[in-house]
Amino acid sequence: MRVLGIESSCDETSASVVEDGRIIHSLVIAGQSEVHARYHGVVPEAASRAHVEQIFPVVRQALEEAGAGPGGHGASPVDGVAVTNRPGLSGSLAVGLTFAKSWAWAGGLPFIPVDHMAAHAYAVQLADTDTGAAPPVQYPYIVVLVSGGHTIIAVSRSFRTLEVLGTTIDDACGEAYDKVSAFLGTGYPGGPAIDRLARHGDPRACTFPRPRLNRNDNRYDFSYSGLKTAVVHQMDRFWNEGYPRTRENIAAAFQKAAIDIVVDRVRNAVADTGIPRVAAGGGVAANSYLRESLASLPGVTVHLPSPVLCMDNAAMVAGLGYHFLAAGETGDLETGVTARIETFRRRGRPHPENRRLQSGE
Ligand code: KG4
Ligand code: ZN
Repeated sequence: MRVLGIESSCDETSASVVEDGRIIHSLVIAGQSEVHARYHGVVPEAASRAHVEQIFPVVRQALEEAGAGPGGHGASPVDGVAVTNRPGLSGSLAVGLTFAKSWAWAGGLPFIPVDHMAAHAYAVQLADTDTGAAPPVQYPYIVVLVSGGHTIIAVSRSFRTLEVLGTTIDDACGEAYDKVSAFLGTGYPGGPAIDRLARHGDPRACTFPRPRLNRNDNRYDFSYSGLKTAVVHQMDRFWNEGYPRTRENIAAAFQKAAIDIVVDRVRNAVADTGIPRVAAGGGVAANSYLRESLASLPGVTVHLPSPVLCMDNAAMVAGLGYHFLAAGETGDLETGVTARIETFRRRGRPHPENRRLQSGE
C-alpha cells in the first residue's frame, strides 16, 4: 500500500509517498528558514502563510516523483493520505490537515491523522535514504526525541504506543541551540551552525554547569534553561584560563554540555529497562556529536535515521500512517488539530498513568 504523507506542523512544508510504511518513493521538503531567520525563531503567522503558498506545489511534486499523478490516480496510485494533526502550531497544522482532508475526500481515499512526535519516533523504521536498506527495528526500543519544540525520552513499544519516561522541565534542546546561535550571531536554525563551529573548538574551554537531575524521581528529565543562561549571561564564571574566547570554543563547550545531558538520560533508560536498542529522532538527532556519542554506548544497538529523516519530513508521517491505515484506523471529516498534547505539558510531574501516549488517540 502506498500512502501520501503531509507534514506542516512547524516551519517545513513536506509531502512524501511511502510504500508499506518503509520504502520512500518521493520526499519533498520546502523549508522556510529565510522567512524566520531575522526573528531567530518561528513566527507562527508567517509560517502559516508560507504553508498556504507551498502546500500545492510540494504535494504535486511528491506525487509526480512517485509516479502517482497530480490526483494520486496516476500509474502508481496512492491508497490513503496521512497528515500530522498534532502537536504543533495550530495555523500551520490546519493548512496541512485541511488540504489532506479535502484531497482525500475528493479522491474517495481514507485519511489518517498522525502524531508528529510518534512520527519522529517511527522515522528509524524507514528505509535508509542513501542505501535503501530497510531492516525493521525490533520493538520495544528506547527513543530520544530532540527537536526545537520537544525533548522527550520514551520507550516505543509498537507503532501505536510511545511510553514517555521523561521530558524537559523547561526549554527544549533545539531551542537552546537556537538561542545560543542567536547569541553567537550564527543565524537560524542554530543547530547545524553550532554543530559545524564546534568541530573546530575545544570543549574544555568552559565548564558549563550540568543540571542536577539524577535524584530518584527524575532520572529521565532534561533541563536546558540553566545551560542557556550560563552561555548567554555568565560566560566569565565558567571560562577556563588559557583558552582563547572564540565562537568555536563556546560552541564546542555548549554542545558537549547539551548533548551529554541527552546521552546520560539514554544511559539511565537502558540501565533501568534493560532494553538494548536505542533510536533517536527530531532535528537535533542530526547532530554529529550526539550521533557519535550514542553510537559509542556499550551494550546497545543504535539506530539513527539519516539526517534528512531526523528533521521534520512527511516520509515519517506516511510511514506511520500506513500502519494505522492497515489496522483500519482512519480519521473523518470532523478530525481537528491539537496544538499541544497533555503528556508533553510538563508542569510538575504528571501521574505515571498520563505518561503513556496512545498515538492513535
Ligand atoms: O524536528 P525539527 O526539524 O523541528 C521541530 O519539530 O522542532 O527540529 C528543529 C531543531 C532546531 O532547533 C535546529 O536548530 C535543530 O533541530 N537542529 C540541530 C541540528 N540540525 C537541526 N541541532 C543540533 N545539531 C544539528 N546538526
Ligand atoms: Zn519535529
